[in-house]
Order: sequence, then C-alpha cells, then structure tokens
Amino acid sequence: MSDLIRLSFSIERNLFEKLEKIVKHKAYGNRSEFIRDIIRDMVVAEEWDSNDEIIATITLVFDHHKKELGKKLTDVQHKFHDIVLASTHVHLTHDICVEMIMVHGSSKAVNQLADKLRQQKGVLHAGLTMSSTAQKLNEAS
Ligand code: NI
Repeated sequence: MSDLIRLSFSIERNLFEKLEKIVKHKAYGNRSEFIRDIIRDMVVAEEWDSNDEIIATITLVFDHHKKELGKKLTDVQHKFHDIVLASTHVHLTHDICVEMIMVHGSSKAVNQLADKLRQQKGVLHAGLTMSSTAQKLNEAS
C-alpha cells in the first residue's frame, strides 16, 4: 500500500455540487475513492494515447443471419492472433449474436482490430472497453 497524502483543493461551487451528486448517485463511500478512480481512468487514457501495452475487451453485437459474417469475424481475429487472448460467443436471441473478445497488445493494434471488426457488414454495434495491464497504475511514476 502506498503512502497516503492528504490534500485540499478549491473548485467552483457548481462543480462541487456535481461532484457530490455523482458520488452519491454512484454510491461511492467517499469523495476520495471517486477522485482516485478518476485519476486511474486518466492514467489508463494516457497509456492508450501513448500506444502502450494495454488490456481491452471488444464487444460485438451482430446479425446472426448475415451470410458469412461469423466466419469473417473469426478470420479478422486470426489475423490479430498475437493480441487476441480469448473470445466468448453468446447466441443472444434467435437473430442476434454477441461476441466478447479479450485482447492484450499495443493500443494501436487493438484499435485496428476493433475498427476491422466493426466495419464488417452486419455488425450492429462494436464496443471497446479500455483497460490496463496495471503496470503504470502501480508504479510510483
Ligand atoms: Ni450466435
């Protein structure tokens, strides 16, 4: 556990009220934990901007009946086999499939993979959830 630093800062009242509303709405135990999470999100965003090695999940929602789409999505993943860790396919309804793909690689490669997948005809939505290997989250800086 790192040393804890206590700090105080000033913000406009309207921002403070927004902060309180969000902390309450998201059921954070206290403001500090919320601020820590915002900082962690900024660290992860910086990792992505710096083309660091990252972790992500790509969620694809697609039309089960679109001809050859399942095969095309698999082919694209094979081209990026070095960054695809695992994938799970769910037959969500009679017509809709969902595939979640866990990836680990440079943010550039992950973005390229996500873009290739979302551009396939019949993909209704592609979500990219950005996360981190946690190396920078743990280091002193
Ligand atoms: Ni399916």
